[in-house]
Amino acid sequence: MFHQILNLLTFFSTLINSYNGISLHHNSECVYVKSEEDTYRFQSEGYRNICGLYVISDPDYLVEFEFEEFDVSCANGGLLSVVDGWELNGQFFPGTEDHLIPRNQRYQEYCGLHKPWKSFRTSQNVGLIEFRVPVRGQGFTVRVKFVRNPKPCNTVLQNPQGVYTLRNYGQSINCTISIIFPESFRILALNVGSQSTRTDDLMAPQMLEVETGLIKKCKERGQRDYVEILGGDGLDPHLMAVAEDFCGTDSIPNKHKIEVACGNTAVRLVSTGTHDNSVTLAFDLLLDIDSPTLLCPQMLESIAIN
Ligand SMILES: *[C@@H]1O[C@H](CO)[C@@H](O)[C@H](O)[C@H]1NC(C)=O
Repeated sequence: MFHQILNLLTFFSTLINSYNGISLHHNSECVYVKSEEDTYRFQSEGYRNICGLYVISDPDYLVEFEFEEFDVSCANGGLLSVVDGWELNGQFFPGTEDHLIPRNQRYQEYCGLHKPWKSFRTSQNVGLIEFRVPVRGQGFTVRVKFVRNPKPCNTVLQNPQGVYTLRNYGQSINCTISIIFPESFRILALNVGSQSTRTDDLMAPQMLEVETGLIKKCKERGQRDYVEILGGDGLDPHLMAVAEDFCGTDSIPNKHKIEVACGNTAVRLVSTGTHDNSVTLAFDLLLDIDSPTLLCPQMLESIAIN
């Protein structure tokens, strides 16, 4: 996981910072990525750089932060920010458009006498504490706990290989899984925006799901429920390019591979709330970049360098 983040930091290093809170840059040497419940302590050695504690749990858990000690004076720009999600170079995951909480409420900043007295619970399996503690010896202690989330929506996946099912549970929400690797995707099962029709059988009236098969370019066709496979170099899914989008009902695993040669890849399920959508995907690390569906410019550069 740590390499993944370093990878990401390199990829994102050229992006412009448009975020006016404290923001992490690739040249910060104090980036910590943790995937375990524990008590983490930071004590400053007197540097002014911005550090980040990136926490990730399994997809069906939320992250809880509780401060046990807090000694960050506001002098010299000392500041600590608790972020609901991840932030890097001004981009957030989950994307600001898809998050139920507005951007300016996604992070809460503290220093001096304003201590974080309550515990924080993130809306998904990732959370972040960004901090700048210029006064030597000052710092904080935070307890990280994972809390079960029975209906995960936005998620960062730690493993670049696996199978995952995205669902909207009948709600009007957009859910994205993000994998910080170039990936190859295959659709194993799809039920997105499908039409149910009533059977004419009067003796046994029931709703029948019509198996439409996988339909491509659903967005263009005006479908409001669809899945899109994305690729990009930043965290925000809205700033990523679309490799393919589709909808329909298909219970037969599709052989077609969608290959995304980008530093960050994502699958986004857009739901209006009129359908109970689900999509199951198999994904694997994209090693062979011969003819990808989507190729990010930065990926091309990194291939050229190697
Ligand atoms: C989901 O995404 C669509 C398309 O980007 C957007 O029109 C819609 O407002 C979003 N829904 C929610 C609940 O954010």
